[in-house]
Amino acid sequence: MKNRFHGKTAFITGGTGALGAAIGRRIAEEGGKIFLADLVPDKTKSVAEAFDGLKDPKILALDVTSEESWKNALECVTSESGKLDVLVNAAGVVCDGSYTIDALPSQEWQHVMKVNVDGTFLGTREAIRVMKDTGGGAVVNIGSTTAFVGSVDAIPYNVSKASVRALTRNAAFSAGKSGYKVRVNAVHPTWVWTPLVEAMLLKRFGSKEKALEFILAQHCVDRLPEPADIANAVAFLASDEASIITGSDLVVDGGRTLG
Ligand SMILES: NC(=O)c1ccc[n+]([C@@H]2O[C@H](COP(=O)([O-])OP(=O)(O)OC[C@H]3O[C@@H](n4cnc5c(N)ncnc54)[C@H](O)[C@@H]3O)[C@@H](O)[C@H]2O)c1
Repeated sequence: MKNRFHGKTAFITGGTGALGAAIGRRIAEEGGKIFLADLVPDKTKSVAEAFDGLKDPKILALDVTSEESWKNALECVTSESGKLDVLVNAAGVVCDGSYTIDALPSQEWQHVMKVNVDGTFLGTREAIRVMKDTGGGAVVNIGSTTAFVGSVDAIPYNVSKASVRALTRNAAFSAGKSGYKVRVNAVHPTWVWTPLVEAMLLKRFGSKEKALEFILAQHCVDRLPEPADIANAVAFLASDEASIITGSDLVVDGGRTLG
């Protein structure tokens, strides 16, 4: 185990969710001070399991779609730590229903875009505002392999993650060219069996076995990633080992986007 986050402060949105908590754990294991921020600011099962044996993280309330909420949450971080070294934008929602393009309700589009795109934009901007004045830092946005492919009936989600990908490149370029010591990168997971995915796929396939059979066939490896696989990729991009990497897309996808 390395100690890449010793003395560093990390803020993770969607932090009480499955991937957010796993990412928090990975950074905490390497010495980072962790703030988990979520619409559901409770010590959930994911957080309790992820931080078993580690110092409890700070859990903050945050609605990523609200500018005021971002300001309040980051004020808590800077008043306690004096700086922010790492922001991970992991909050996200999926579509409520399955709609082809002609049947897609505007509300469905707006809700997914508001959380996944507006939320990631606000977080990236607010973190850069803090980081540029406090010694720099790293932003890691959680996209998805769906950013690289089309969808028949989950269009808002795929477009939102493609937008996260584009936002990442543009924010990285803009921050770098402005002379700020802030890097911005994206990690794009394939399916990870989390409650978010379980709820969606059980509705569609009826059983976990059928769902796994269908989604595993999209890959060229024999397993799906675990939350820890995603956390390893995020930790690398957030760490100084990636100090030359900005604006990049790291797919963690068992070959899903190769075909
Ligand atoms: N699980 C997968 O297969 C998968 C694959 C690719 C990408 N992702 C992305 O990874 C991220 C985490 O997903 P997960 O599987 O851990 O799901 P999850 O549902 O466990 O976590 C998502 C978290 O986001 C929070 N959230 C939703 N709206 C919010 C808001 N307005 N403000 C603050 N927090 C909000 C939820 O409360 C939840 O805790 C999401 O961005 C998701 O799109 C997941």
